[in-house]
Parts: sequence; C-alpha cells; structure tokens
Amino acid sequence: MNIVLGITGGIAAYKAPDLVRRLRERGAEVQIVMTASAEEFVTETALQAVSGRPIRSNLWDKEAEAAMSHIELARWADVVLIAPATAEVMARIVSGAAPDLLTTICLATEAPIALAPAMNHVMWNNPATQSNREILEKRGIHILGPGTGSQACGETGAGRMLEPETIAAAVFELGVGKGEGLLEGSTVVVTAGPTREPIDPVRYITNRSSGKMGYAIARAAAAQGANVVLISGPVSISAPPGVEVHPVNTAQEMFDATHQHIANADIFIAAAAVADYRPAAVEKQKIKKKHETSRIDLVRCPDILASVAALPRPPFTVGFAAETEKVEDYARLKLSAKKLNMIIANQVGDDLGFDHDDNAASVLWNNGRKDFPKAAKSDLARDLVELIAEHFHASRGADTEPRLTVISNKD
Ligand code: C5P
Repeated sequence: MNIVLGITGGIAAYKAPDLVRRLRERGAEVQIVMTASAEEFVTETALQAVSGRPIRSNLWDKEAEAAMSHIELARWADVVLIAPATAEVMARIVSGAAPDLLTTICLATEAPIALAPAMNHVMWNNPATQSNREILEKRGIHILGPGTGSQACGETGAGRMLEPETIAAAVFELGVGKGEGLLEGSTVVVTAGPTREPIDPVRYITNRSSGKMGYAIARAAAAQGANVVLISGPVSISAPPGVEVHPVNTAQEMFDATHQHIANADIFIAAAAVADYRPAAVEKQKIKKKHETSRIDLVRCPDILASVAALPRPPFTVGFAAETEKVEDYARLKLSAKKLNMIIANQVGDDLGFDHDDNAASVLWNNGRKDFPKAAKSDLARDLVELIAEHFHASRGADTEPRLTVISNKD
C-alpha cells in the first residue's frame, strides 16, 4: 500500500517516526509530506531515516516536483493519512483551501483520506472544530479518534492522538476494501450499544453496554469489504471508517431502523444490548417522589434478532448471548429458540464483557462450536467476522436448502 503521510504542527508529531515504522512493518511505502509548522516538532532527518524516502514539504520545490509532481503524488497514494491532524488542517480541508503541498494533495487525490486529530481538548470541543469534523465525516473522510486522556498541555480530555499502532491498524483496514476482503459485495447489518427506554422526560431504563464489541464487529466487517450498516444505540465512540451509522435510542427505534435496512442484508449480527422491557407508559412530566415506594409497569420490547430470523428470506443471522452463568446452556437455547445460524456466547462480569476492551467468546452453531480466548475486542471481532464469513459462504454455496439443515450438513 502506498501511503502519503501528512504531518502537521502538533506536539503529537513526535510520535510520527513510530507511526512510520508501524506502517512500514505492515509492508507500506510511506511518503511523508510535512507542513512548515510540523518541522517545529519533529526533524526531517529522523523521518527520512525511518521512511527511506526524501521528505516533501514545499509545493514550490522545483527539483522534487520534477521527480514526482503533487498531482502524481496524489495519484500514487492508496491512502492519504494525516497524523497528527490539527484543527487548522481540518478547517483547511473543509474549506477547500490549498495553500501548501499537503492540502493540495488532499484536493487532488481520489484515494481515501484519514485524519488522526490531535489537539487540546477545548480546541477539539470547539463548535467550529466539531462542525468541521461532521462535514469531513459526511464527505467520507475517515476520522480516527481522537483518544481521551492526559494531554501535553497538562489538561485532561478528548484530543489525544491515537497510538501509532492503532492508527496503522485502522489504515490497513481502509485499504483492504479493494477487492480482497472475505465479504466483498455483501451487505452486513449490525446492531450495537444499549437502548434507552424513557420513564419520564428525564429518566430512562438502559443496559450496561459501551457498544465497543458491536463497533469492532462493524469495523472488522467493513475491513473485509462488506457494505456495513450499523444501527447504534447511544454510545460515546466514533463511527468506524466507511460504515453507514443510524443512531437510535429505543428498542422500537432499533427494530424499525433494522427492518428498514434488512431487505438488502446478507448477514445480520445483533450485538446490541436491547432492553427486554420498557415502561408501559411514558409520563409527560417528571415523576415526583410522593411515596416511600413506587412501581413502574413494564411491557416487552420487540425481539429484533428473533424477528429478523423469522423473516421469510432471512439473512445469515448471528446473535450474542451475554450471560453471567450457564453461558453455553443459555446460548444453545437461544440459538434454537430464535432460529439463528450462529450465536456468540460470552461470560459477563469481573473483567470481561461490558465496557471492557477485552473479551473472550465461544461461537456455537448446530453441532459445532469454536472457542476464542480473551483478546482485545478488535482482534476478537476480526476472528469472529472471519468465522461468520466462512459459514455464511458455506450456507450460500448450499443453494436453496433450508439454512439450518445446511449448517448441520456442513458441520
Ligand atoms: O434473549 P436475549 O436478550 O438474551 O438475546 C440476546 C441477543 O438477542 C443479542 O444478540 C441481542 O442483540 C438480541 N436481542 C434483540 N432484541 C431484543 C433482545 C435481544 O435483538 N429485544
């Protein structure tokens, strides 16, 4: 993969040599394009040594332009990555201004563009920056991060550049969607995150779910070349690159959004922690504390997963079973009761499952199973998607046979 790596003037530029090494370890050719202010934070000498190519920075450098003009560079790139990306470069790309080599390449390239923002948290949260982020995302530019934590300025908040390893992995996921993925040409619908069932205007019932697993699954499916539609409950993580996200709040909204998109789906993966019950009535005004005890009548929410599996021509349907006990027994019951192709069972509690970065899982299907040991959710998601893709293709290969028979014949 040919990567144009743009480095702009933020303190996180000191991590750029490490990022170059991570990209090159994965086999990428990296051409660095620095802005003038980036040179304040990292030296050309270091970057040239790790990239093995002369650094480009000046749009008017006749010698460099003669060797490879800015237009040729824009065509050469399979991906243009800017890391760190300052608020300034985001604003320039939004406006279409191209006063330097890097922004000129951004205008002239047809390759995917990815930005890893890095700035003080107040700058990141500034409405101007947030509006620029929104515009860039709408234009299909991938925003990687930023992360949250302590910042070079001594404050804490959102705005830290993601770690070089995370950025490199994300960039390679963008690159796979070029005809090499296991799910090329397939449409995958994923549900993720919790739902919120309102009690009154200020209160709701919800589930403990960060959405991390569902988002990792969506990202991994996109990396395998699938068109991914992500129906997401309220979460605080950003959309995976290239994935179409539909935000919802309640189980009913998640049900409606899923059924709006399911007709074209080849695979449905239900990773959301959907509320099983919602208040029978939503109070119009905030409930006051008049009595010592109180009661809320609940009614069942629609089961999205079961409803998709019960469609006349269902997609390949995969559910999750997050359980605190008898994990496999409950998961097998759900596999058959909901008529699923596969179920991903995981123990929740202690340091696994909800809101953690790691997870372990067992995947069960009729007459078969595969165990995945504890791993980062991103790695687990990649392995799960590979297994799902393999079984999906096997079921498709077996033509018009009923799905569940196909699975049991194969396995
Ligand atoms: O029945 P249970 O809630 O334990 O099943 C879990 C699986 O069903 C998960 O895949 C979850 O996303 C899905 N589910 C759903 N709609 C519901 C409840 C659960 O899609 N109302």
